[in-house]
Amino acid sequence: MLSWDDYYKEEAAHAAPAMHTAPEPRPDAAPAEPSVTETTGEIAAAITVPDVSLETATSVLEDEAGVVDKLTKATAALEQMDVAPGLQELEMGAARVSVDEKAMINCRADLNQLVPFKYDWAWQKYIDGCANHWMPQEINMTADVATWKNPEGLTDDERRIVMRNLGYFSTADSLVANNLVLAIYRLITNPECRQYLLRQAFEEAIHTHAYQYCIESLGMDEGEVFNMYREIPSVAKKAAWSLSHTHSLSDPHFKTGTVETDQELLRNLIGFYGVTEGIFFYCGFTQILSMGRRNKMTGVAEQFQYILRDESMHLNFGIDVINQIKLENPHLWTPEFQEEAIQMILEGTQLEIEYARDTMPTGVLGMNAAMMEEYLHFIANRRLSQLGLPEQFAGAQNPFPWMSEIMDLRKEKNFFETRVIEYQTGGALSWD
Ligand SMILES: [Fe+2]
Ligand SMILES: [Fe+2]
Repeated sequence: MLSWDDYYKEEAAHAAPAMHTAPEPRPDAAPAEPSVTETTGEIAAAITVPDVSLETATSVLEDEAGVVDKLTKATAALEQMDVAPGLQELEMGAARVSVDEKAMINCRADLNQLVPFKYDWAWQKYIDGCANHWMPQEINMTADVATWKNPEGLTDDERRIVMRNLGYFSTADSLVANNLVLAIYRLITNPECRQYLLRQAFEEAIHTHAYQYCIESLGMDEGEVFNMYREIPSVAKKAAWSLSHTHSLSDPHFKTGTVETDQELLRNLIGFYGVTEGIFFYCGFTQILSMGRRNKMTGVAEQFQYILRDESMHLNFGIDVINQIKLENPHLWTPEFQEEAIQMILEGTQLEIEYARDTMPTGVLGMNAAMMEEYLHFIANRRLSQLGLPEQFAGAQNPFPWMSEIMDLRKEKNFFETRVIEYQTGGALSWD
C-alpha cells in the first residue's frame, strides 16, 4: 500500500528537473532569442533558463510561449462562455429530486443525482459487484497449458468443447457489452441502475479479457476461435439471435416513450438478460465447469467459475429491471406481449439445445446432449417464472444439481468470500 512518505518522495523526484527551479545559466550560454511576443517576453523574464545548450533553451522558451498562448486562449474562452444553456439544462433552483420522481424508463427527473435511492437492490448489486472484483491474469494457467499441449492430455471430444466454448464466449461478451453501452444505458433513466450498468460493462470487458487470456495462454489459433461466431453454425445462430434484438435500440435516434418503443426496450432486455446471459451461457458453463470438477483444464474452469459468479448477478439485475418496468408500466405487459416473451425464451432454449448437440455429438465428461436438453428445459422454466410467465416444460428436472450449488442465490454473497477478502486487503492470493 502507498504511504504518504512515498507520495512526497515522488513529488520531490518530479519537482527536481522542473524549469522554474533550474540552476543559474552558464556564463557562456547565449541570451534567449528576442523574437518572442510581448506577453511571452514577460513570462520569459520570470523564467530561469536551465543549464542547457542554446538550442534546448530556445525550445524551452518556445514551449513556455506555447503554454502561455493556450492559457490565454482558455481564459478568454471562459470569459466569453454563455452559461445560460447549461444552467437551464441543470434547472438551477429547481426542487430537489424526490424518490417518487424516479422511474426506470422515461424519467424526467435529473439523472445526474445518484441519491436519494429508489431501487436499493440496484445499488446493493453495484456494491456486491465491486466487492467481487477479479482479474484473469491472477489465475494460474500452467497446468492447462501442459494438458492442452500434451497429445494425450484431452480427448478429441473434450478439445472440441474447449474450442467451441472459447469461440462462442470470446465474442458473446462483446455483444453483451456493446448492447449495454450503445443501447440499454441511455434508455434506462435511473442513476443507481446506471451505476450498476457501468460496473457490469467493466465486468463484460474482464470476461472478454479472460477468454482472450485463455486463448493466448493455450496458444490457440486466434483467427479460428474469434471467427467461430461467423463460421460455426451453432455458434453463429446464437450470436445472430442476440444481435437481432439490439439493432433498433442501437440506432442513436431510437427513443422510448410510446407503447411500441417501450416494448421494444423490453424485448431487448428479455433477449439479452433473459436469453443471452440467462440461457445461452448455460451449456458452455456446465461443460467447462464439469471439466474442472474432473481436474482437467482447471485454470480455464476457474476463469469460467468467476465469470459465472458475475453472470448470475447480471441475470438477477436484468430480471429485477424487467419486473420493475412491468410494475411501473403495466400497460406494456399485454397478453400478446407475454406470448411474445414466452416465444423468445423458447427460441433461445432451442438454439442452446442445438448448441449442446453440436458441442457434444457423443457423451463426454459424464454428460450428453439429452441430459443438457433436460437441464435447459429446467433453466427455461426458471427464467419464465422469474419473469412471472408460466413454465413451459412440465416436470423438467435438474440433472446437474452441482450447478445449482454454484448459482444458488443464498450463496451469491459468499461464494468467493475468502478470495474477495484477500483481494480487498491487497494480500497474496492463494489458489489452493
Ligand atoms: Fe459476461
Ligand atoms: Fe454478463
